[in-house]
Amino acid sequence: MSASAGAKTKVTALPGDGIGPEVMAATMKILAEAGAPIEWEVAEAGAEVFKKGSVTGVPRETLDSIAANGLAIKSPLETPVGYGGKSANVTLRKYFELYANIRPVRELPGIQTPYTGRGIDMVIVRENVEDVYAGIEHMQTTTVAQCLKLMTAPGCERIIRAAYGLAQAEGRKQVMVATKANIMKLTEGMMKRMGEKVAPEFPDIKSGHIIIDNCAHQLVIKPEAFDVIVTSNMNGDIISDLAAGLVGGLGIAPSSNLGDHAAMFEAVHGSAPDIAGKGLANPTALLSAAIMLLRHIGSFEVAATVEQALFITLAEGKNLTGDLAPRGHGVGTDAFTGQIIDNLGRFSTMPTREYKPFELKTWPELTAHMEPDTRELVGIDVFLETDLRAEELGRQLQAIAQDSPFTLSGISNRGVSVFPPTGGQTFLVDHFACRFMFKHPIPLLASKSEGQAEISYLVQRIGAKFTWMHIEKLQRFDGKDAFERPQGEG
Ligand code: NAI
Repeated sequence: MSASAGAKTKVTALPGDGIGPEVMAATMKILAEAGAPIEWEVAEAGAEVFKKGSVTGVPRETLDSIAANGLAIKSPLETPVGYGGKSANVTLRKYFELYANIRPVRELPGIQTPYTGRGIDMVIVRENVEDVYAGIEHMQTTTVAQCLKLMTAPGCERIIRAAYGLAQAEGRKQVMVATKANIMKLTEGMMKRMGEKVAPEFPDIKSGHIIIDNCAHQLVIKPEAFDVIVTSNMNGDIISDLAAGLVGGLGIAPSSNLGDHAAMFEAVHGSAPDIAGKGLANPTALLSAAIMLLRHIGSFEVAATVEQALFITLAEGKNLTGDLAPRGHGVGTDAFTGQIIDNLGRFSTMPTREYKPFELKTWPELTAHMEPDTRELVGIDVFLETDLRAEELGRQLQAIAQDSPFTLSGISNRGVSVFPPTGGQTFLVDHFACRFMFKHPIPLLASKSEGQAEISYLVQRIGAKFTWMHIEKLQRFDGKDAFERPQGEG
């Protein structure tokens, strides 16, 4: 994807909604003046497409254009309320499996914040397609909602490798994996363990782990200590906005979304309907995303020229848009854009980082499957609805299990053990997880179908008395439990 002399790289441009077309036009103008080797292919997405009846907000021609070019720059897209369906942004991320969301957070010259002068300069690498954002949700009863938090070994491995690859490309010295592994030992713990597995391959980079809540705290207390932070989807969503706030807010923050086959660059802010069409929008965020795009295609010199022109414009503070200028001194998008163009070729006191090409590894499909040497079926969790008290439920389920291959080992309510009685003060809802263990664990052989008859027998007996929602098999891989115990279970 690197740009050779004279050749132009085709990039799909989505002008988007609200102020989107204004900031896109400004960005394209600056890049053209800077001699960026890019040929734009403008495509539609967002509100107008939803209005035509699309459920995704992204027409087929747009998907085809991005698929063919492998590169896109995107202005904000509105997520309609009341018509259409999904978020067009999410559609694009998921369709192209753009799993790495890269959010640079760097102190900008001329933008005063409580942290000015501290030298904040970090990148947050957020996993972008897994975790609770897979949107796998089910109402379990009318009062209990469930969201599945799915994290995968390849999902963790590729985002951690992306973080190290980016650290190397940008000459960064430290990668911190931020997780909630202390509570979610299997999901978040997988990210932590993957960090520990991959780190030794990068001896020149200092590697570490930090609990995500402490990470949020440290970001506020000592943000200059961070270099690269890699984290799961929801953690990253929250801390990347927090970090953007340290250096001037979402309005000036860029991001890239990288996958094995496509990359999409965007501003973090929304379509700003309050100022749309008035020529007041600040194009800094989209322009900064375009600078990331230039580096992605190997056009490092043009990227540095544009970045320095932006830095010096911000540092000198002449002709800033209203969101950055002192009250009453703001200019419009055109004047700000013109000022940046006038400054092309000038250099600020803020150094340009050394960047090297950075490409993600292309992952084969189904790298996920790693068969353990041994696999045993040790029990099942049955999730059921009842308004019985825990002790009465326990008594009835013990009776049901009596002549079966199972014993009832315990019952939990919202993850807290409530049977056998613990004396705790758990507030009970009508949704219980009932754990039945096989009296004799069943080895799972090649077909892995052993134990099904026993499970059907038990579930039928339970179903005759209770409404059950789902069943989880409890397995042991290589002698190790592949499930967690509820809080309070002895
Ligand atoms: P917003 O970011 O559009 O606006 C928040 C405030 O920041 C407004 O006062 C706006 O005028 C100001 N602002 C934002 N960008 C600016 C810029 N470049 N220059 C000057 N001022 C700027 O957030 P809001 O109002 O929550 O969302 C509006 C729409 O944008 C919604 O439909 C939302 O779904 C969409 N949106 C899209 C995103 C994307 O495409 N990545 C991200 C966030 C929101």
